[in-house]
Amino acid sequence: MKNIVILISGRGSNMEALVRAAQSEGWPARIAAVISNRPDAPGLAFAQGRGIATAVVPSKQFSNRADFDAALQQEIDRFAPDLVVLAGFMRVLTDAFVEQYAGRMLNIHPSLLPAFPGLATHRQALDAGVPEHGATVHFVTAELDHGPVVAQARVGVLPGDTEATLAARVLVEEHKLYPYAVRLFVEDRLSIEHGEVRVSDARVADAIR
Ligand code: GAR
Repeated sequence: MKNIVILISGRGSNMEALVRAAQSEGWPARIAAVISNRPDAPGLAFAQGRGIATAVVPSKQFSNRADFDAALQQEIDRFAPDLVVLAGFMRVLTDAFVEQYAGRMLNIHPSLLPAFPGLATHRQALDAGVPEHGATVHFVTAELDHGPVVAQARVGVLPGDTEATLAARVLVEEHKLYPYAVRLFVEDRLSIEHGEVRVSDARVADAIR
């Protein structure tokens, strides 16, 4: 049984999708904890309601990134994670923190990386006039919103789309894409070797397209 620790900063809808999939699909893994850097993150209540351990490491109370990341690491490691999952965790991480979880930390980003890293990705996509947009799951490396891509989900950009309508369509895909990628990891079918992503069974990949 693998331990997953999920980090959130807010709503937590991706965390919810992961919790539901882990339970309904019977993954060989358990969500050991949900940790937030914000005490008011709405997602914490969902996790508590499911009997999942929660913790808050309030980033506002730290004067520098290194101290916050060290405190966060200490909290995460209490749960002996095999995998750390960033699910709307809106913090830039230090190299030392990223190094600690190299090869076992995933992030989801609401764009087709390498397009539109950073914030306001849906606005960026609309401004750029791209025909397609989407979401990316990637291994976390020191550079923000970079790192080897595990999987992507695409949506068309429609005439009349606003940031809100586009975000909503992308989010529906995120809720399928992230459980798919995390499941691959906990079933030992996803790894990273010398910076290259390896997926050992392509059948599941085909099934979600
Ligand atoms: C999601 O759209 C996620 O992709 C994005 O924040 C949202 C969190 O929603 N993450 C990033 O922008 C990371 N760079 P959620 O809290 O409902 O899962």
